[in-house]
Amino acid sequence: MKDELFEPVIVVFCCRWAAYGAADMAGINRLSYPSNVRIIRVPCSGRVSPLHILQAFRLGADGVVISGCLEGGCHYVDGNLRALRRVRQLKKMLDAIGLGGDRLEMYFVGSCNLDKFANYLREFTERIRRLGPNPLRLREG
Ligand code: FES
Repeated sequence: MKDELFEPVIVVFCCRWAAYGAADMAGINRLSYPSNVRIIRVPCSGRVSPLHILQAFRLGADGVVISGCLEGGCHYVDGNLRALRRVRQLKKMLDAIGLGGDRLEMYFVGSCNLDKFANYLREFTERIRRLGPNPLRLREG
């Protein structure tokens, strides 16, 4: 079901060192990103477990983004790369269970990349709008 009025709920796990800073600066600079985005600050993208992601979907998120430091910039050495590996595995699992791996994405963002951050979120929101609502949400209805 692809409702024209459908406004997807997007949960974004933001590393506090980079992506969260970009989100904060985007807000301060009145740079708009979609209002349907819910930002959750985490110490490092590597701290986001598959359970956090699956729980977000179970509670009705239509899309989930993990946003970590740029490659080579993780404060915990390789948390962002571990997060990327997890996201790749989970995408396959989401495809296998029919939820759709495209509902999950990982972006690397520097704390000064306000435009990039806002663009990623706009593009991702459009992608989810095309996919339609989370089928789990429809089932619980
Ligand atoms: S500290 Fe930012 S992704 Fe690890």
